[in-house]
Amino acid sequence: MSSFPSDFVWGAATAAAQVEGAAHEDGKLDSVWDAFARVPGAIAHGDTPEVSVDHYHRMPADVALMAELGIPAYRFSVSWARVQPGGAAPNPAGLDFYSRLVDELLGHDILPFLTLYHWDLPQAIEDDGGWTRRDTAARFADYAATVHEVLGDRVRHWTTFNEPWCSSMLGYAAGEHAPGRREPAAALAALHHQHLAHGLTVRRLRELGAERIGIAPNLTTAVPADPADPVDLDAARRIDGLFNRMFLDPVLLGRYPADILADLAAAGHRLPIEDGDLGIIRQPIDFIGVNHYHDDLVSGRFKDGPGGSTAPQDRVYASPYPSAEFVTFPGRAELPRTGMGWEVNPAGLTELLVRLGEEYGEALPPMYITENGAAYDDEVTADGAVHDAGRTAFLREHITAVEAAIARGADVRGYFVWSLLDNFEWAWGYQERFGIVHVDYATQRRTVKDSGLAYAEMIRAKAPAA
Ligand code: FCB
Repeated sequence: MSSFPSDFVWGAATAAAQVEGAAHEDGKLDSVWDAFARVPGAIAHGDTPEVSVDHYHRMPADVALMAELGIPAYRFSVSWARVQPGGAAPNPAGLDFYSRLVDELLGHDILPFLTLYHWDLPQAIEDDGGWTRRDTAARFADYAATVHEVLGDRVRHWTTFNEPWCSSMLGYAAGEHAPGRREPAAALAALHHQHLAHGLTVRRLRELGAERIGIAPNLTTAVPADPADPVDLDAARRIDGLFNRMFLDPVLLGRYPADILADLAAAGHRLPIEDGDLGIIRQPIDFIGVNHYHDDLVSGRFKDGPGGSTAPQDRVYASPYPSAEFVTFPGRAELPRTGMGWEVNPAGLTELLVRLGEEYGEALPPMYITENGAAYDDEVTADGAVHDAGRTAFLREHITAVEAAIARGADVRGYFVWSLLDNFEWAWGYQERFGIVHVDYATQRRTVKDSGLAYAEMIRAKAPAA
């Protein structure tokens, strides 16, 4: 018997910079990812988001494919650089693309689940200082209002930020992501200003009548390598704080975690918090998106092991963990890994969802798994199919893990597979394929993988096993 509620939302996710292509068409100008892709060594194989999987032009066919598979919801993002090229006046052609997309979705009875920021800041705004500048938060709220003006009559679900840890820490401290800066102070400013942008935007969207508003952080469980070793326990506290609590606490509780602020202060860092900011940041929200791929074994000692897997970039990058740069990620040899080297531990997802309910209690709104999936080295075989047994098993096991969490009381309302299509995987370029639909990058031909067919069946059965 399935524990999924009858109104559970099943979907597939993409992001503008990863699928649209048309990077300089119809008025769109550079986002930070277009510019970063031109930095030598920044992206594996020198790949760029210029053409990607051409979703901008193939959108009606892609939506029809989703409908054929019976996928009831589509999580997509709007490109700020398409809607306000150069960070300036609204671009009617750019807005029109999203309006047509929403009409196409609704015409096929697919629920649009919109994300306002999936990392593609207009490069012109970065040139002004990007997220290190406080007024970027206000500009973001204006951009959100512009999008709402056009889509607000048809879109009910609005997500402010996707994985703000990545767009602050990976972008401004590690330099692994655009804009490629390696400045911890800038990253902490970016983190705070993105929170501020979230709060201002929730407020603005509410005034404009948006119905359901949330945010989608990436969350992990930091597992101490040796739970009896106080040094490893402290490392786990630090990573949990920097990765999870620095994002959840301000938004849900209206404060930053005191232990992490103290660690940062000891390392000479402070957040540019002004009076009243936390009141703005903590707005009632209707859902929290949980993006989750793997949990992390952490140690405060130098520990060797299979470790995490980092993007194959030539460019040197720094730690995304200001004040916890010394923490190591030894990895667990006993766990299977995806094609990309990420550990597979579905039980970790159950634990995460249950723990969020326990730790945040009443302050935690209903959850959606807004991203979960895996990259494998897929191939179209002679029979014209893609037999991606690894991904199919990954999805089944993780959806079972979500079901187990619901059975233990976690309030999870939906699941979105990452991703509908193979796409531009940021610093990894096109090397990693996350789609349930294969894309031949030379011809743009789409082939539904076995995992896509299996996922369609799970949706029909409302259960991971038919
Ligand atoms: C997440 C991103 C998403 C995708 C997956 C694999 O961190 O939100 O765009 O790249 O990882």
